[in-house]
Amino acid sequence: MAMFLLPLIIYLTSFSIFFPSPSHAADTLTPSDTLRDNQTLVSAGGVFELGFFSDLISGNHYLGIWFKADAAKVVWVGNREAAILDSSGVLQIRSGNLLLSDRRQLQVIVNSANVASSPNTIATLLDTGNFVLKEEDTDTVIWQSFDVPSDTYLPGMKLGLFGQNTTQPSFHFLVSWVSPQNPARGLFTLTLDQANSTKVVVWRGDGRHMDIAFWDGHNLRFIFDNTSSKNDYNFSYHPIGEEDAYYTFSKGRYDLMWFVMASTGDLDQFFLLDGNIWSISHRLCEDFAGGNTGKCLSSLPSICENGDSFSVMNGSLPSTFNSGGWINMGTSDCETLCKSNCSCTAFVSVQNGQQVCQLYYQSRKDLLKIVKKGPGIVYIRGGATSSSGKYKIIL
Ligand SMILES: *[C@@H]1O[C@H](CO)[C@@H](O)[C@H](O)[C@H]1NC(C)=O
Ligand SMILES: *[C@@H]1O[C@H](CO)[C@@H](O)[C@H](O)[C@H]1NC(C)=O
Ligand SMILES: *[C@@H]1O[C@H](CO)[C@@H](O)[C@H](O)[C@H]1NC(C)=O
Ligand SMILES: *[C@@H]1O[C@H](CO)[C@@H](O)[C@H](O)[C@H]1NC(C)=O
Ligand SMILES: *[C@@H]1O[C@H](CO)[C@@H](O)[C@H](O)[C@H]1NC(C)=O
Ligand SMILES: *[C@@H]1O[C@H](CO)[C@@H](O)[C@H](O)[C@H]1NC(C)=O
Ligand SMILES: *[C@@H]1O[C@H](CO)[C@@H](O)[C@H](O)[C@H]1NC(C)=O
Repeated sequence: MAMFLLPLIIYLTSFSIFFPSPSHAADTLTPSDTLRDNQTLVSAGGVFELGFFSDLISGNHYLGIWFKADAAKVVWVGNREAAILDSSGVLQIRSGNLLLSDRRQLQVIVNSANVASSPNTIATLLDTGNFVLKEEDTDTVIWQSFDVPSDTYLPGMKLGLFGQNTTQPSFHFLVSWVSPQNPARGLFTLTLDQANSTKVVVWRGDGRHMDIAFWDGHNLRFIFDNTSSKNDYNFSYHPIGEEDAYYTFSKGRYDLMWFVMASTGDLDQFFLLDGNIWSISHRLCEDFAGGNTGKCLSSLPSICENGDSFSVMNGSLPSTFNSGGWINMGTSDCETLCKSNCSCTAFVSVQNGQQVCQLYYQSRKDLLKIVKKGPGIVYIRGGATSSSGKYKIIL
């Protein structure tokens, strides 16, 4: 019986966030500052960066926090449901609050709940990835990004249920992105079970859900890895009264460890140790649900005509080939990007020995005509065919 462990993707990339080059960018926004689309804050130790990023496909802009060493790993988004359409976004502090505005004069108030009693507030990006707005005089925290998670659970973040029997309950949970390039709220939610807060559950948009972890009295046990110790994931469970509770964790034996509720419905776990980062995707499915198959959660069947898997062939595309191309994007990130849009029929991940990511949106038949013999690797959605037999499919 297959019990658990479904590491779907494991990859290694070099990641040196603990050996950053000295950076002189500011980590703090003060009332006299404006952070424009082309400017960023960098945390004091150079671990995280805050600024605007744009969705490669739609061109929408978002306020986000990402790893300074890997801008593709966005850990927080400030305006998931209110994309800025161009590069006119500005973040600033007004009357003690954080304001995000753009050319349309539309003002998205990042902190709407608590108006600071003193206008002397500053907002600092910390090396934990937390962006904290506080009163400068009293150090009182007015607002922090850790209280409004996106899809990423970082050490020190509290996921849970707060103030359930008050008029202002606040739930901290993860919601997946719609797709790897669209940070709007997607299909999957990771939260504590309201009926039994010792359990962590994932919900899918159609109402199906499954337990994925529980408190064993000492540590949080994931169903996919019930042998983990405090050294691996050092979770703590904090019940508050009878109705509220939260989980938080510290990094254990890694330099950093974090979780992402992925748009595919997988729970991705990332580890950083000695400058290397790797990840494991846990599919929330019956293979480790311990017989609880009724609750098996996986992404819905592919909606793409040619499915979601890729054939591989050696070759390259002409240099005149007109598609968005990104240098140094890893193969799995590039695959995820292509996979998320059915119109993407292929991608190139290595060209002339260099790591690239070129997406191809025309028909597969046309693609086979323009692939040249070459040192690159082309990934084609579905089982690629070639009537001439000229191109050998190696996977
Ligand atoms: C940022 O954009 C502003 C206006 O859009 C421009 O004046 C400024 O030179 C730009 N700064 C950088 C560093 O590109
Ligand atoms: C909550 O869930 C845990 C783990 O499944 C179980 O052991 C415990 O009895 C449950 N508590 C309540 C009050 O249902
Ligand atoms: C982990 O799961 C396996 C299979 O269900 C079980 O035999 C084992 O006792 C579990 N270990 C712990 C520590 O819960
Ligand atoms: C919420 O309920 C718990 C238990 O029922 C109680 O201990 C706590 O005082 C309540 N909190 C508020 C703010 O009413
Ligand atoms: C787990 O975290 C606690 C603080 O929450 C810390 O005191 C303890 O040393 C940590 N244990 C490990 C094994 O990292
Ligand atoms: C594709 O290229 C790799 C090396 O890059 C080589 O090992 C392999 O044999 C090639 N396959 C074909 C079908 O040419
Ligand atoms: C998929 O890609 C095509 C071509 O770039 C684009 O026109 C379309 O809007 C994309 N669809 C989605 C859902 O992003």
